[in-house]
Formats: sequence, structure tokens, C-alpha cells
Amino acid sequence: MKIGGFKVGDYVVKEEGRKKHLLFDCRGCIYRASLADDKACMYHVLYALNEADADLVVLSDVYERIYDEKQTEMLREIVKLIQKFSVEAPWSYNNLADTKIMKDEGLLSTRHKVIVTIARELIAYDPIKAYLTCLSELSKERERFASGSAEYKASSTVYLKTLLYLKKNFEECELIQKARRFITELKQVPESKELYRTFFEAQIKPAFIGSRLIFREEEGLELLDEYTVKNSTVQIFAHPNQTQNLYFINPPEYSLSPEKYFVLSKAKEVVAGYTPGRASLSTVARSREYFERIYQSTIMEIAEQNNIKLTKKEIKELSEIVARYSVGYGILEILLSDRKLTDIYLDSPIGESPLYVVHSDFEQCVTNVLYTEREAQALVTKLRAMSGRPFDEAHPVLDFDLPELETRVATIGPPLAPDGVAFAFRLHKLTPWTLSQFIDVKYLNPLAAGLISFFIDNQATMLITGSRGSGKTSLMGACILEIPKNTRIIVQEDTLEIPVPYMKKIGFNIQRLKTKSPISVSKTEAEVEPDEALRTALRLGNSALVIGEVRSKEARTLYEAMRVGAAGNIVMGTIHGDSAYAVWDRVVNDLDVPTTSFKATDVVVTARPIRFYGSLRRHRRVVEITEIRKHWIEEPAREGGLLDLMQYSAKKDSLELLEDNLKESELFEKISRVSGLTMHEMWADIQMRAESKRYLVEMKKKYSLPELLEAEYTTAANDKLMLLRERQLREFGKVDYGKVLEEWKEWVNERLVKKLTKSEIKTKG
Ligand SMILES: Nc1ncnc2c1ncn2[C@@H]1O[C@H](COP(=O)(O)OP(=O)(O)OP(=O)(O)O)[C@@H](O)[C@H]1O
Ligand SMILES: [Mg+2]
Repeated sequence: MKIGGFKVGDYVVKEEGRKKHLLFDCRGCIYRASLADDKACMYHVLYALNEADADLVVLSDVYERIYDEKQTEMLREIVKLIQKFSVEAPWSYNNLADTKIMKDEGLLSTRHKVIVTIARELIAYDPIKAYLTCLSELSKERERFASGSAEYKASSTVYLKTLLYLKKNFEECELIQKARRFITELKQVPESKELYRTFFEAQIKPAFIGSRLIFREEEGLELLDEYTVKNSTVQIFAHPNQTQNLYFINPPEYSLSPEKYFVLSKAKEVVAGYTPGRASLSTVARSREYFERIYQSTIMEIAEQNNIKLTKKEIKELSEIVARYSVGYGILEILLSDRKLTDIYLDSPIGESPLYVVHSDFEQCVTNVLYTEREAQALVTKLRAMSGRPFDEAHPVLDFDLPELETRVATIGPPLAPDGVAFAFRLHKLTPWTLSQFIDVKYLNPLAAGLISFFIDNQATMLITGSRGSGKTSLMGACILEIPKNTRIIVQEDTLEIPVPYMKKIGFNIQRLKTKSPISVSKTEAEVEPDEALRTALRLGNSALVIGEVRSKEARTLYEAMRVGAAGNIVMGTIHGDSAYAVWDRVVNDLDVPTTSFKATDVVVTARPIRFYGSLRRHRRVVEITEIRKHWIEEPAREGGLLDLMQYSAKKDSLELLEDNLKESELFEKISRVSGLTMHEMWADIQMRAESKRYLVEMKKKYSLPELLEAEYTTAANDKLMLLRERQLREFGKVDYGKVLEEWKEWVNERLVKKLTKSEIKTKG
């Protein structure tokens, strides 16, 4: 297409997240792909906007320059003005002078030329200059008017009016208003190019990456945290007027030198030739290194051919980037490596709003990442291939554990999600929470931790309840670590959340059963129903039984087994609810367990997010530890069946022991009967456990050793504590708990603290 001397490049309008993108293919265009730096480019864009309406302008070369909605709107105003002038033709003679009086053809033609220059020509590629020309002509004409003859004055009035009309129209445009403010501040007229650079600063990203990063300049942002993930800086800001924090990520691939972009996009092209097919996609995680090696040699070749000097390290970095955007998960991969995130959400329609995340320290945050429909489709293809499951209108839910990423992704599509696919990623913690870590974050206090540990060691049946995300599963993970290592543990889950591989690594004897996910509607899945899995688990012999989440028919089977003592020695599970009573109600009324069977539960631990003084920040807290007593018939709350042992006080932000209730406990009585321990001894034991956990937290703080609270060390410390207690029992027939603690602390200092401080010095040195 050729007009006015400029050939207008190819463009298309593409819809993305309900926004129309005017997309220019600038490869091979002789002009620079930048509105600010090349007038021809401005001309092309204005011309195209005249033909096709759009919300955003994208100039695509090796980089993509993206002009956002506000910038595009400024351009559209200019386009409308061009259209208006072309209809009104302010350059026609009757707008230049009173033609009845004025017969000077020369003057008329000069004026005609000026107005055409302003309102038809300049405006189409340099609107600011058009406006400035209008201003300067206006002031010149005013001078001529002042010194002109009466006849000249009469003819000039019309011309002045036209100039003023143009000026007024220009000044209604945002772009011109901005320019005026700028010029007033500078007190001089800069080159219009400089002005365009200020107003049309584009977001730039490599063309081979779909996702856009938005770096809004905003005032009053407060930096809350900053750290690096996979060479990318993460910054978290508090916004002055929004309740959600902002999560900004800046991966290196968004700010590379033009040469490196060139190499990357070439490498990507070459690599596209041997992108793995369906079969090999499923082994992507394992073959990742293999691909990176291929990419390294490709990049080396391209660099050599094009005389680009790259160091070994740079080649490696670039190959990682290509791998990330070809066989990997793209920018998502960086977010998935930030294990401080617990969830990542991509809502439909994709591209309309940025992804958001849930951060373990800063709760829900909006990110600066805008994903694209194209990337979402690629992700769906990848998930389909890797899971080997269908995902289409008949199967609109795909639920899948991403291999080697300890992450579960739930994907929904039409017709269930009418606006298109959406994704939710749940990032599991790689190491389990420990009771000491929970003390450290004030989820519970040492006494509660000691009590829970004591109950587990004495084979109580325990349910952990709470609202969504209150930390039930995490607490259960921590409880598993309190089970003596010589006990066999069976964990049954529909979502693989408990870090079983890690627990195995540190010496637990643990077997995992995976059951069918209740939210999956796929009909082809070969997964086992929870109820069936539980029956199998019960046949596997005497073990501790851990049920990830009790939510359906399996509850009946579980309680039946517990009631007749067939469920093994320790039973634990999480269940949705917000108090011991709610758990009873759920188990009996929703899950059909006979009310008296509920007595097989010994303890219910309730967790809840607390908002102190109505603050927006929620803090997770264990709020109740309740014993289920056995002498009631129909309804435990009315008949004194629910006995709170500990209760949370918001005023003190701590769980308080209800000593009066303790006297009425049947559970302690039962444990006493079985173990032969007196009440006094049981309390000494609980306090010993509490103190040991508190001590680890104290040492962690004193020497800044967060690792000390990781399961690897806390379970070692726990084992030692139990061994020392056992030894006293053997030697003296009874336990001096104070003495045990003393010896244990010495051991902790010598064996754990010293070792960790040494390795700490080594890594820092
Ligand atoms: N005390 C805590 N302090 C801070 N973060 C926590 C705490 N407990 C749990 N978390 C984090 O909160 C997230 C949700 O925890 P978890 O999955 O244990 O909750 P849940 O109650 O089992 O949720 P759901 O209802 O979805 O099953 C996890 O990422 C976990 O690491
Ligand atoms: Mg859970």
C-alpha cells in the first residue's frame, strides 16, 4: 500500500483478552519501529488507525514495542482530528479571507499552503509540530494584522479565525495538552522528537515471548521486600490506595541487548524445527538438560555466523531462556520457582488482567505479568500431552500434578468457564512445616505443640479442621513428623500435598496412596476412589493412617474401622469446618457417620485466620484444641461431649490452657491407664516436649539459623529427646524430665547448632 510517498507496512488487528491489538509486522521495514524515533512510523500507525480501530498498538520486530491504551487513545484523537479536518477543509479559500474583498491570489495561495501543511500534512506524521506551526503562524499573522492596512485587516480576520479554530481543535487533544504542559515547564520549545519520546515510551519485550510486563510508574509505592528467583528480581510493593500488594518480577530476558535478542529469536526459529512431539513432551522435565545442550550449540553457531561475541556463561544463560520459552513453561516457570508463592491464578479471559499470586508473607498480590491467549493455548497443549488426559468441551476440567515441580494445576475451560481457559496453580511446600516453625510464626505456642506431640505419641485420633487455606494440611504434615520413625505411615491424598518424598529422605517409613480428585470430571481416569483406597489401606496392616482430606464416603469406612480398632494405632486427617462442633455436624449430618461413631475421634484441632483489630492482614492461628469425650449419646455439644483443652485469646495472641477443664478430661485418664504415667508425669512430659521445641526456636533466632527448624533437624532433635528419655527410664526406672532436657540441649548445641553455624560461615565465606 502506498500513500503520500510512504509505503505502509503490513498490519493486522488481533483480539487478545477483549482488547484489539493493532499489530505491525516491522521486519523488513526500512523505517525504525518506533513512534517516537521515526516520523514515517508515526505516519503508518496513524494511517492504520484511520482504517482500523484498535485499543493497543504493537510494533513487532525482534523486539515488540507496545503502546498501551492511553497512548493509543492519544493517537486515536489525532486520527479523529485528521478525519474532521479532511471533511471540513479549513484550507478552502472562504476560510482564508473574505474573498469578496481580497483578490490577491498570491496571498491566498500562501495561506492555503500554510493551512494544508498544518491540518493535512504535518498533522499526519508530526502532530505536535503541526500545532506549533499553527501557533507560530497565528502570532505572525497577528503582527501582520497590527501593522496592516485597513483592507488587509478586513481580509485577515477570517484567516485569524481559521487559525484560532485549528488551535482550539488541537488543544482539545490529550497529546497536545501534554505537550503544552511540558513546554510551559521547560520554558522553551524542545525538538518534537524529545516530546514524543516522553509521551510514547513503549513497553518493550522480545517478540518470542508472549507475556507482557507492565511497569506502571506510580507514586507512593512502598517497597516491602526484594529478592531474586532464577536471576530475576522480585519486588513486592504496598500500594497507597489498594488493599492488595504488588508483585513485580523482572526476568533478564526482558532487558537484553539487541544482539542477544537477535541471537535468541534466531535460535528459537531453528529450535522450533525440532520441538519435541507429543511423546517426548511427557519427559520434558527429564530431557530439559538435553534440550539446553542442543540450544547451546545452536546459539554458539548463530553467534559465530553473525560475528557476535558471547562468553560461555552468556551462552548458557541464553540457552536456558530459549528452553524456558520452548519446552518450558515460559515466564510462569520463574513464578513457579518462587517457592514463597503458594498459589498462582490466571483468570479468563486471559490477557484482560494480570496474573495474581498468593504470597506466604504478603498474601494476595497483583503481578505485573500479562499472559496471552496464545501462551495459554500452548500451555493447554502441553498439559494435555503431559497428563495424557483429554481437555475439551466434554472434559472441561484438567487437574494435574506438574512433574518435578511439586505443583498442582487445575485447568478449566468452556463450557464450564465461559470466558475461556483459566488456570490455578497450587505450589506445595518442598519441605514440610514443623511444629517449631509454627511456634516461630506464632501459629501455635510451645505448650500447644507439646500437647499435640504428646497426643500423637500416645496414639490419639486427631482431626484438624479450619477454613480454606487455614493451614490444616500443613499442620498435619508437621504432626506426621511427630510420629515415631519406627512406625509405618500410610498417607492417602487426592492431591499430592504432603511432602512424602522428603519425609522418606529423612528417614520416615511412609507409603503414599493417591486417590481420585473430587473436582475432576474426566471419565477416563484410572484413579482409585478414596473409599476403595481406604479399604486397601486398612488391609495393609498395622500402620499410622493419615487421610489428606476427609470429604466424602470414605468417612464412614474410616469411622467404622476406628470404632472397632481396625484403623491402626494413629489416625489423623483434615476436614473442612471451623470448630469441633462443626466437624461433628459435618461428619454425622453430611457424611452419614452414626453419631456415636464420632466418639472414635479423640481430639479436634481448629485453625482460623485471625484479623487483629479488623486489620486487612490475616494471620493464621490455631484457636482451639478440643477433646471429644465419650459419655454422650446424641449431640455432643449439649451433653458435654466437647471439652476445650486450650483456647485462643486474641488479646494475648496466644493459646491458653483451660486448667479447670483438664480435670474433666477422659483422654488423659485413658492415656494414664494405658501408659501407667501419673497426671504429674504426663504434664512433665508435655512440658519437656514444649520446652524442646521452644528451645530450637530460640537457637534459630539467636544464631539466625532458619534451617534448624526444618524437618531434617527437628526430627533428629525429637529422636534424640525420646532416646534420652528412654535411657533414663531403663537406667532408673523413671524419668527426670529436667535432666533429660539438660542433656538434650547440650546435644543440640554440640551437634546441630555448631554444625549449622559452621556450614553457614562456609557458604557465606
Ligand atoms: N501458620 C502458617 N503461617 C504461614 N503460612 C502458612 C501457615 N500454615 C500454612 N501456611 C501456608 O498456607 C498455605 C495453605 O496451607 P494449607 O494447604 O495447609 O491449608 P489448608 O487449610 O489445608 O487449605 P485447604 O482448605 O485448601 O485444604 C500453604 O501454602 C501453607 O504453606
Ligand atoms: Mg488442605
